[in-house]
Amino acid sequence: MIFTIAVDGPAAAGKGTISRALAEAFGFAHLDTGLLYRAVGAKAGDPVAAARSLSPEDLARDDLRSMAAGQAASVVAAIPEVRAALVAFQQDFARREGGAVLDGRDIGTVICPGAEVKLFVTASAEVRAHRRWLEVGGDEAQVLAEVKARDERDMNRADAPLKPAADSILIDTSTLSIDEAVAQAAAIVRRRLG
Ligand code: CDP
Repeated sequence: MIFTIAVDGPAAAGKGTISRALAEAFGFAHLDTGLLYRAVGAKAGDPVAAARSLSPEDLARDDLRSMAAGQAASVVAAIPEVRAALVAFQQDFARREGGAVLDGRDIGTVICPGAEVKLFVTASAEVRAHRRWLEVGGDEAQVLAEVKARDERDMNRADAPLKPAADSILIDTSTLSIDEAVAQAAAIVRRRLG
């Protein structure tokens, strides 16, 4: 069976948690596409060359989850040639046999406009910054400023800006527990699967 679930939304909205849970529940493969951009941003040298030569080792680096890696990712993610170099890999993953969940910023709009399910997962900037702060620590006001700066860059770039696909279903996780958010998403997928 070929079945793609596209999960888009801003930083720390809960996309990763929901996507992993959906993959587990339905036996689908999961791709965190943000990791591709984080790995490109973390590599030294020309980002376009980095995107074209991305290796499994690049994706396995243990420093990709930091706030700094997130900022670097959103800078290289605005370069059209970087995005273009990553399209085929993501599309192949999405249409693999057995079903796939991809989370990112442009999955439902650019990478998989024909995805069977499109979710746009969001939450207020304050709630998202608080969640990220619980993960990374430091100064919460600084984390909020960085989350807002990254949202700004991701929403206003010319190529594949962050925005809900016209036919996406919105899940606002501001006041939802993880279990509630996952249950909402799983119900949408189940309905589509019939
Ligand atoms: O986990 P978090 O939501 O904080 O970030 P991420 O999903 O790892 O993405 C890091 C950065 O990569 C984002 O801020 C985007 O600039 C970029 N990105 C993108 O442009 N397109 C994607 N499909 C995924 C990530």
